[in-house]
Amino acid sequence: MDLQLLKPDAGHDGPMYLQLYRRYRNAIAQGQLAPGDRVPSVRSLASALNLARGTVELAYQMLTSEGYFVARGAAGTIVSPRITGLPGAGEPKAAREAPPAMPSRDTAPGDILPFQLGLPALDAFPRKTWARLTGRCLRTLDTAAMLYPHPAGYEPLRRAIATYLGVSRGISCSHEQVFVTGGYRGALDLVCRTLLQPGDLGWYEDPGYVHARHHLLNAGMRLAPIPVDDEGMNVAVGLRVAADARFAVVTPTHQSPTGVALSLPRRLELLEWAKARGAWIIEDDYDSEFRYHGRPLPALKSLDAGGRVLYTGTFSKVLFPGLRLAYLVAPSALVERLNLALNHVPGPGSILPQAMVAEFMEQGHFARHLRKMRTLYATRRGYLVDALERVMGDRLYVQPQAGGIHVLAYLPQEHGDRALAAAAAAAGLAVGALSDWYMHNAERGGLLMGFANFVSAGWTDDATMRLQVVLERSRSSTRATS
Ligand SMILES: Cc1ncc(COP(=O)(O)O)c(C=O)c1O
Repeated sequence: MDLQLLKPDAGHDGPMYLQLYRRYRNAIAQGQLAPGDRVPSVRSLASALNLARGTVELAYQMLTSEGYFVARGAAGTIVSPRITGLPGAGEPKAAREAPPAMPSRDTAPGDILPFQLGLPALDAFPRKTWARLTGRCLRTLDTAAMLYPHPAGYEPLRRAIATYLGVSRGISCSHEQVFVTGGYRGALDLVCRTLLQPGDLGWYEDPGYVHARHHLLNAGMRLAPIPVDDEGMNVAVGLRVAADARFAVVTPTHQSPTGVALSLPRRLELLEWAKARGAWIIEDDYDSEFRYHGRPLPALKSLDAGGRVLYTGTFSKVLFPGLRLAYLVAPSALVERLNLALNHVPGPGSILPQAMVAEFMEQGHFARHLRKMRTLYATRRGYLVDALERVMGDRLYVQPQAGGIHVLAYLPQEHGDRALAAAAAAAGLAVGALSDWYMHNAERGGLLMGFANFVSAGWTDDATMRLQVVLERSRSSTRATS
């Protein structure tokens, strides 16, 4: 290609390295540079365009780290052979006006699809520390830890969790109240087997966490959908339609999936109802660790004078979901009953992962990791919200929320979010449809988008533009059929 087309304008359109970076991306998107094409060396491009070498180097570094370029050492740098066509980089308008072409799906790191929900930032997991602790755990595991484990979990981990919850969530509990489980569903299973009976009725947030809903229905529970508004689950509706329920499942810190917090008056009403009726509250505190402004309200459990709250947390969002480790904190009056029941449930499995997490927490790595992730997620959330605003404009409305690792964006009424999510899935984009999280018909369609694995603004822009193409196509086909 003509190298002069890459030349940035001094004093125009941002820093020179960013202009160069964008021009390369555009050239690749428009086919002026093909996968496998060799690009000039830093030195020769700097001299051809009369730029400082550092400027070209910076742009090349960005293009390489984002997967557009592949550096092959002495053999030079080429356009990545994995790229098979990207949307007009940086120009959402062009994508809107041109007939939409489907860009490559090779732009996500590893096996993670863009927008995938429920995953923490796996690139930022401290693998070296983890590997060192694994070796240490294997070398130092004593004979006691090799016997049949306590079904409530490895004691040092239970102690570490109790300490952590005291400091971070205002929950005062002993390690004996902590039951380590195989994921959140393991905790639900324990509750269903010990405190509930098939046919029992429970309040369930509408919309609410879809997987736990199916799990509870599968365990024979009946669920009363309780609407969620901007103060969280509407407790007054629960009292009106199902005051005699045996349990309620809530996500008070960041309602799943809307992200709103359960207001203090509603928390108190809910606790009052549970105490008066002898009902159980299952508090799912799945991602309270990630909050970007303001402080979270203390956990419901910390206000539980009546001993009705079963608190659950998970390591899926703060470490990684492949661990399959979560925990339940029970009121002390229930400890004996749960311990008896534990002999009949699968429990948290092998001691080893539990020993590693315990060590990770005890040595301060956990607290450090969380601090680092809070900053990282604020940045990555910013990438996505910026990209959505720039690329989608008023075609999506991003619900403001103070925390969590996903964004909820509402669609204009006429759009079917399920069809859109299915079309996006066909294009390799893992957005979720808000309607799937409803038991009743959704009032408004929306898309749920994970942002934790958007490693750069460039990746995020590309994925968002690909989503915009899907939206555009679905609008055109809706217009054509109406
Ligand atoms: C609302 C909610 N609760 C709980 C969990 C944790 O589930 P698990 O521990 O099974 O990974 C998740 C995970 O995505 C979630 O979104």
